[in-house]
Amino acid sequence: MKGEEREAMAVIRDKGEMRSWSRSRRKTGARVALVPTMGFLHRGHLALVEDAKRRAEFVVVSVYVNPGQFAPSEDLESYPSDLAGDLRKLDELAVDAVFCPPDLYDYGGYGGVSARREVMAMSCLEDRGRGGAVHETWIRVERLEEGLCGKSRPIFFRGVATVVAKLFNVVEPDVAVFGKKDYQQWRIIRRMVRDLEFDIDIIGAEVVREADGLAMSSRNVLLSPTERQQALSISESLSKAKVAAQNGVISCKGLQASVVELITQAGGRVDYAEIVDQEDLRVVEEIKAPVVFCVAAWFGKVRLIDNIEINP
Ligand code: PAJ
Repeated sequence: MKGEEREAMAVIRDKGEMRSWSRSRRKTGARVALVPTMGFLHRGHLALVEDAKRRAEFVVVSVYVNPGQFAPSEDLESYPSDLAGDLRKLDELAVDAVFCPPDLYDYGGYGGVSARREVMAMSCLEDRGRGGAVHETWIRVERLEEGLCGKSRPIFFRGVATVVAKLFNVVEPDVAVFGKKDYQQWRIIRRMVRDLEFDIDIIGAEVVREADGLAMSSRNVLLSPTERQQALSISESLSKAKVAAQNGVISCKGLQASVVELITQAGGRVDYAEIVDQEDLRVVEEIKAPVVFCVAAWFGKVRLIDNIEINP
């Protein structure tokens, strides 16, 4: 348990050191909560930290941009980062430890990537592994990862599930907090934990938004002022759809069409706009049980996602 005096926030880069730090706290009977992130922290991430603090005596935040979940064509290189700023924000929140490994994957020694592998099915991790060793073990949550973001980002969720499992094995937390902003990711992690018997409580925290409704995202800084304005069409159209559903519209087709139209009119390019069951993420045609309306759309070179839960 923590004493009156708070220990200085530990900044840990080494996997072994992270594991011993966590084990020594848990040995005393204290609970450890983990908040996995890719850094460039905003209020959405910090809300997860606040939530974690209410659930455990010790809070660990991981900051790691995982090459395993980016395809070679995606924005790994331009993904924003500011570790010094992140550490300052986390220290202000009295976080106990920040785990920021230089790399979580081992490249030492053997093998290369198969030349036959399709680029779309490859991650930046494999791309980097050319000429060196390649990470070969992946976790796939087979059906849940198929729809929504999985369609246009086919290797994304295996990268997420795998790195989160690695983080769980290193940090060994009692509880881990994820944002419902990435709804499919949250459901996939819950399923993985259930299916693979991880003894970890998985919490889903509500979406945190800017004052005008835009869901907070590390990628928002990449939007031009015009795109930033256009991007409001996502949350605005989703809110309208929710009101319509609450007023009795149950057919999904019309609701989806109006969201696509509003985003397209604003200047966005819709990747998907789908209404799915909250639990199993299967597409529904009518809103009769709790659903979530999920959207992904491009504004210039930036792809944003958002969603709204509708409970009839
Ligand atoms: P990242 O995008 O940095 O997000 C870290 C966590 O913050 C995720 O659980 C995400 O859902 C949550 N989050 C982001 N924006 C939010 C918002 N506006 N409101 C509420 N929660 C929000 O998601 C990832 O990183 C990675 O895929 C990761 C899980 C760390 C694995 O690499």
